[in-house]
Amino acid sequence: MVGIFCCILKDGKAAPIVHSALKKLEYRGYDSTGEATIHKNKLYIKKDSGTIDEVHARHNLDDLPGKIGIGHIRWATHGAPLRENAHPHIDCKEQIAVVHNGIIENFTELKKELEELGHTFKSKTDSEVIPHLIEENLNRGLPLIEATRETIKRLEGSYAIAIIYVKEPDKIICVQKESSLTIGIAENAAYPTSDIPTFLPLTKKAVTIENQEIAIVSDGKYEIRKITDWSLVPREPKLIKWVPKKAEKLGYPHFMLKEIHDQPSSIRNTLRLQDQYLELMTTFLDRAKEVFLVACGTSYHTCLAASYMFSKLAFLSTHPVPASEFIEQQGKSINIDSTILAISQSGETADTLAAVEHARLHAATILGLTNVIGSTLTRVSRVYICQQSGPEVGVAATKTFTAQLCVLAQLALRLAKKRGKVSHTEMERLEEKIEQIPDAVETILQTQEERIRQIAKKYRDIEFFLFSGRGISLATALEGTLKLLETNYIPSMTFPAGEREHGPISLVEQGFPVVFICPRDETHEKIVGDIREIKDRGASIIAIIEEGDEEIKALADDHIEIVKGMPEILSPIMYVIPLQLFAYYMAVERELDPDRPRHLTKAVTVK
Ligand code: AGP
Repeated sequence: MVGIFCCILKDGKAAPIVHSALKKLEYRGYDSTGEATIHKNKLYIKKDSGTIDEVHARHNLDDLPGKIGIGHIRWATHGAPLRENAHPHIDCKEQIAVVHNGIIENFTELKKELEELGHTFKSKTDSEVIPHLIEENLNRGLPLIEATRETIKRLEGSYAIAIIYVKEPDKIICVQKESSLTIGIAENAAYPTSDIPTFLPLTKKAVTIENQEIAIVSDGKYEIRKITDWSLVPREPKLIKWVPKKAEKLGYPHFMLKEIHDQPSSIRNTLRLQDQYLELMTTFLDRAKEVFLVACGTSYHTCLAASYMFSKLAFLSTHPVPASEFIEQQGKSINIDSTILAISQSGETADTLAAVEHARLHAATILGLTNVIGSTLTRVSRVYICQQSGPEVGVAATKTFTAQLCVLAQLALRLAKKRGKVSHTEMERLEEKIEQIPDAVETILQTQEERIRQIAKKYRDIEFFLFSGRGISLATALEGTLKLLETNYIPSMTFPAGEREHGPISLVEQGFPVVFICPRDETHEKIVGDIREIKDRGASIIAIIEEGDEEIKALADDHIEIVKGMPEILSPIMYVIPLQLFAYYMAVERELDPDRPRHLTKAVTVK
């Protein structure tokens, strides 16, 4: 996720206005930033890696001439956070500058085509293909708007783009597809941006650019057209009446709730991973003689779920190990035939890096899955995948967990296909189901949130919870436990439902809450028996069930329904959503701050 802010004035300097607006977008990304302006038909550009304050201190972003400018603040998804990868990106002739928010899925082939046409690229980003494509179309004699239209036809993926061109310095061209873009409209100025709060100090009038629309923006005027048929869109500006409580939270009371609700969008971005990265990692996993899945905390729960995915789909046996135990448990056995898939959203967790370093020194192959390009894990991995979740501010991992699961489900499916373990029909069915995950998560958020909030109210004073499940749902239950424990300080415990007689059932007394994760999978019949036995001892049953599961609904004191028809192997992605919301609303009920749980930090970078 990144932030864009642009400005076109009748008179005055655009750069300081852009700089000040980018400061408000820092929550969207902060690993590099840049600005470009046009003055007397010349392009001026300043950009670098680092926070906006660091880059401004180094380069003085305000010292760019001209009354038209574009700016960008970045969270790297393609290309490490280095100066050459920072936006704006330009064409070969240095006449076009572009800022982009989103993911160009087909950039590899476009880049190859443009390089064969003689274009030279300076970055590793997907975004840099845009100015070169526009340049190619301008070279055919098209005006900027037509050149942009032809360019957009070639792009696959999501984008919010702003373009300026030295030969047409009286306009900013803005285009959007599945990535927000709004224009602030003032008397003699206009401010295209990712976020409305950035221009509110300048104007309260806003006009949105909707999906698949293109806008030509000048100093106070604009024209919007549909990309598909080029028809004009007569859209009047609206008056913004709300005062931005906290722009970075987009109106949500806490980052944790915002990030829970961000999951349909963040998962869509994760499902836009470049094929070649997934294929490369699949190849390494296929060749591996033994695979260890190593991580901490929530990322370790991802490892547990992944071990079921790899085994059930690809018949690959993997060993999930908590990173802090890895050297003690496996240190002596690691060798050149070992492959370590380390999972860390921060890419900086000390225990995970220590485990990786130990394995590396014993000639093991290191694979990495992280949310931060340029993190230590990306530097020590033979191959890594960036999960493209965007920045996660809440200490409790939410959207990074479901994103990790989506990457691993894709890897398990590709491995199964490579190994001939799934039929073509089954392959297609599962690929289709994976594409449906964002909408399934959206449905859960829309239909179950209020019910979950009520359940949290009901149990707000309870001081101990048990969580349970079978099969892959054990990982889901463990994650639910951690969410509740770390945001509410409520002692909670997870047990495999089949283990109840080996101890946990002794805890149950009248009214004791037990949360069961019950997708309608191979374990369903058994979990019904587990619930009956626990209920017979007086427990209060909170069941997360598939929509319409009347059998468990009849047994449960409270239930939350998950959309039908999602394969069990993907169930943790859907079934964890209610557990995230339950932990969040319990914290709110108990007047705690879920964003800043006591004693915890977002990344445990020291051991
Ligand atoms: C999860 O909610 C916690 N914030 C914590 O357990 C976290 O998952 C763990 O520290 C691992 O972090 P990483 O994914 O950045 O390595």
